[in-house]
Amino acid sequence: MSNMFANRMANTHKSFIREILKVTADRKVISFAGGLPNPQFFAVQEVADAAAKVLAEDGENVLQYSTTEGYLPLREYIAERYSEKKGLEVDPDEILITNGSQQGLDLIAKVFLNAGDRVIIERPGYLGAIQALSIFEPRFIPVPLQQDGIDTGLLKDALDLNEVKLFHTVVNFQNPSGITYSREKRLELAEILKRYETILVEDDPYGELRFAGEDLPSLSSYLPGNVILLGSFSKVIAPGLRLGWICAPEDMMEKITVAKQASDLHSNYLSQRIVYQYLCDNGIGEHIVKIRKAYGRQRDAMISSIEKHFPEEVEFTRPEGGMFIWVTLPEGASALRLFDLAGGEDVVFVPGSAFYVDDGGTNTLRLNFSNSNEYEIEEGIKRLAKVMKKLLAPDK
Ligand SMILES: Cc1ncc(COP(=O)(O)O)c(C=O)c1O
Repeated sequence: MSNMFANRMANTHKSFIREILKVTADRKVISFAGGLPNPQFFAVQEVADAAAKVLAEDGENVLQYSTTEGYLPLREYIAERYSEKKGLEVDPDEILITNGSQQGLDLIAKVFLNAGDRVIIERPGYLGAIQALSIFEPRFIPVPLQQDGIDTGLLKDALDLNEVKLFHTVVNFQNPSGITYSREKRLELAEILKRYETILVEDDPYGELRFAGEDLPSLSSYLPGNVILLGSFSKVIAPGLRLGWICAPEDMMEKITVAKQASDLHSNYLSQRIVYQYLCDNGIGEHIVKIRKAYGRQRDAMISSIEKHFPEEVEFTRPEGGMFIWVTLPEGASALRLFDLAGGEDVVFVPGSAFYVDDGGTNTLRLNFSNSNEYEIEEGIKRLAKVMKKLLAPDK
């Protein structure tokens, strides 16, 4: 049957990253490819204790079906943390628990997008968002990122020329570029968006992972009513629990809840109860401080290795948090070719073109520093530098 699949699958592609992860899983390679948290910091015993406790104390309930919105005490905890950390006053009814923030993207796309609707994404943009949204056949408008956030001039042009339904952004330690929107850029962006009906999706799985500089306000503090916030426990507790959330105004939440019901009834209730118990018994602050310090050290190690080994003409970002450094090779150099050469040295990364919906980024790449120790970072960067030199000056 030539047309067995729905049209919507035609432009939705396999994630290049998940393919790399499959290849590298059982080989002795140094991988800067995945966006994986460092498993050394998973609180395995504390999660085991929390699981044992909820099963012993409330086993029959925690194994039962539950509400679509999610466990209320967990939603209250999230609302309280928004208030404490960001000064955002959010009602727990404006929070819906999801299977990671990735499901948040899927539900938002389902609720808001008709085929052909315009969606602004950052250039480069988060691959998982490109994938989740692509299924609903939007027309992407990629708007370039600068060192301090999106290019607001080009953003304004895009908004003036098109009726834009959604704008997906990662303002803190962006995946893949590692950049953070400055305070001025956030204010400017909010001023622009006030004039349009475009819904801003502020995807923030990394916000708590700041190891340098000062915390900056969420865009939803400037644009109440027009922002959907996505959060996640993946980077602060563990991604295998698959828990995240959507924080949206109540009128939007009604529809999002219907979409969630249709999709999976509710997120894993046992997982929600374990996370809540874990949070009650351990808090979150200390653990976050530990991860931040470790990732800060890993970032420093990667930057000093890069400074030591990479050819001078290669540029890179210096993230203040999160998990990624973005590298730009000189114009015309191919990161895909570099990827092939690096494979021969048992080191992998993600070629930047995976994060573009157009043909851009061929001379860029993403490096993850959170999932390698300092020895692997130094060794991996050294190997990468060796093949970079081969690529950039093949005759030497
Ligand atoms: C920007 C961004 N959004 C969403 C996600 C999805 O995370 P999760 O579904 O684990 O919460 C990721 C994961 O890497 C991400 O980088």
